[in-house]
Amino acid sequence: MTLSVQAIPAFDPALRESAARLAEACRLPLADPNAVQPGDLVLTVTATRLELHELGHRGRPLALDFAHLDVTSPAGRTLRQPLAKAVGFKKRSQAPSILDATAGLGEDAYLLATLGCTVTAIERQPVVAALLCDAHRRLSLVQPEIAARLTVRQGDARQLLADFNPQPQVVYLDPMFPAMNRKTAERRPLQLLRRLAGDDLDADALLPLALQLAAHRVVVKRPPKAPPLAGLPPAFSCHGRGVRWDVYPRPRK
Ligand SMILES: C[S@@+](CC[C@H](N)C(=O)[O-])C[C@H]1O[C@@H](n2cnc3c(N)ncnc32)[C@H](O)[C@@H]1O
Repeated sequence: MTLSVQAIPAFDPALRESAARLAEACRLPLADPNAVQPGDLVLTVTATRLELHELGHRGRPLALDFAHLDVTSPAGRTLRQPLAKAVGFKKRSQAPSILDATAGLGEDAYLLATLGCTVTAIERQPVVAALLCDAHRRLSLVQPEIAARLTVRQGDARQLLADFNPQPQVVYLDPMFPAMNRKTAERRPLQLLRRLAGDDLDADALLPLALQLAAHRVVVKRPPKAPPLAGLPPAFSCHGRGVRWDVYPRPRK
């Protein structure tokens, strides 16, 4: 996959400077207008937000925008949702602290922060992490209270979980599931995410680390008919449309 960074408009020195810093942080080249090809992905710094462009694709570029997320979708995204049940949410004043070890597009992390949970979202893919940080920056302008409950960190949870502090009440895992035998096409953001992040074939390794760390429970999001992560049966599952959350309670100390 060819991935690079550009500024639009390219004549703006401040944007060009931001693009150069971002390219260095993500260890990516700056886009060469004479070398880019249709299908290439270009992380694009604009005056208002960070976007991921697929060259030659007629659809809109990907930019994460938490404040415009549909929180009413039946796929578990309402505020009276199975996601809330899965993480053990009972009332706002006792909302659990959550470590989302596989942040991706940050939708679950944002929804949990909306409920009142404090959420640390870890993402290892640098471009995805940069898009998340940019979404978080813009969220703090429009929903500062929710943004204050959400922290984004770039890194690999396999390392960060080993000595994570403070201990979260819940560790939440939602690794990519291999896109085999799908009857319907994935949403466009997920297609792009899969191009960037791959299939997370090492996801099983996260479960034992999460079980060591979580004070109350580990929650794993899975497709409805998928086997449990690492082959470990959960104590119980919560079901939404097209999704299942496997719950592994931890013994109270
Ligand atoms: C399916 S997406 C998560 C979607 C997310 N729950 C949401 O609501 O948008 C999975 C993400 O986990 C990330 N990931 C997988 N393994 C990881 C690890 N060990 N550390 C950090 N991020 C990881 C992948 O890069 C990918 O972006």
